[in-house]
Amino acid sequence: MLSAHAFPADWQGQALTPLNPDTAFNGYICAHVVHALERLGVFQQLAAERTLGISSFCEKNALDPAVFRALVQAAASFGYLDVQGDRARATAVGEEAARTLGFFTWGVGGYHDVFANAAPLARGDRRFGVDLHRDEAMVALGSAQADTAMMRHILDEEIAAIDFRTLVDLGSGVSERVSRLVKARPGSRGIGIDISRPATELAHETIAGYGLRGTVQPVCADVLDILFKEQEVDGSDAADVVMSFMFLHDLLAGPERREEVIPRLRKAFPQAHTFLLADTTIRPRSEGEDSRLPVFSSGFELAHALMGVPIYTREEYEQLFQRGGMQLRRTVPFGVPHTYLFVLEAS
Ligand SMILES: C[S@@+](CC[C@H](N)C(=O)[O-])C[C@H]1O[C@@H](n2cnc3c(N)ncnc32)[C@H](O)[C@@H]1O
Repeated sequence: MLSAHAFPADWQGQALTPLNPDTAFNGYICAHVVHALERLGVFQQLAAERTLGISSFCEKNALDPAVFRALVQAAASFGYLDVQGDRARATAVGEEAARTLGFFTWGVGGYHDVFANAAPLARGDRRFGVDLHRDEAMVALGSAQADTAMMRHILDEEIAAIDFRTLVDLGSGVSERVSRLVKARPGSRGIGIDISRPATELAHETIAGYGLRGTVQPVCADVLDILFKEQEVDGSDAADVVMSFMFLHDLLAGPERREEVIPRLRKAFPQAHTFLLADTTIRPRSEGEDSRLPVFSSGFELAHALMGVPIYTREEYEQLFQRGGMQLRRTVPFGVPHTYLFVLEAS
């Protein structure tokens, strides 16, 4: 598969392939160690104070000292921490890992069971969504961490030039993004729509935290019902900007309705002049042997294959928008490898 477009150099990645078995096995363990340290608050402490006292950290957080020390030593052997006696500091690679924690939360925290059950899935002994599930909360947290570290500034720059009074976010998770953008635009209001009840409950807290109760509305609904069953959401017909992040491929999962999704989006939000739709795409393969891989892409592609959810190339998205009657104003590389923000006008 060849892409006609150049992409940012860092999306090429640094993981040399073929991964020899030593690297592959150690990478697997290292990913779990990074995720464990993140869950225990180690990276947060190192970001705040640059150093961590191992004994006092265990005491303060009621951790088993032997287990915690083993995790710290493992991180040191992978080159992520520098340990001197009872003190640990992040190495340069450890600091780089801190920027990419969202991928570890997503992969280890969110998709661990899916990857671990790849063989039963292939045999048909287990089925995703029936007797095998991802951890939705970890997936949402990983997305939010990646947003903060790698995407937020790009969206802020893009939306600064766009007028809106009513902003709708589809598949909004905990409504963090819509709240942040509405807060920064006095006089505007927002609606965050998500199918997940727990996410919508958390969205109430997010919105209250921003002091936006009554200004941003969290709605628990299936966006497919809004598009295809004419379910109405109060106030959404006034939306002048509609966004969705890391969710479009979910909307397109059903092959029978795929072509209709974009026209239905325009119809469901008739006042919307701009659609900001972002998603991760299939990594373009180069003609020769690939010798390097970036973070995330291999996991994103395999996880969706195991779940039976199709994903798309950048070009496939752009063609789908065009066929659906949206005009592409610009395609913006969106921080995370092979992830784009499509800025679209309803034509
Ligand atoms: C990968 S998460 C992305 C969350 C958020 N947009 C972000 O970027 O952090 C996808 C979200 O879409 C929601 N979702 C999935 N299918 C949906 C549907 N049919 N209608 C509404 N929300 C849906 C999930 O509950 C989840 O919160």
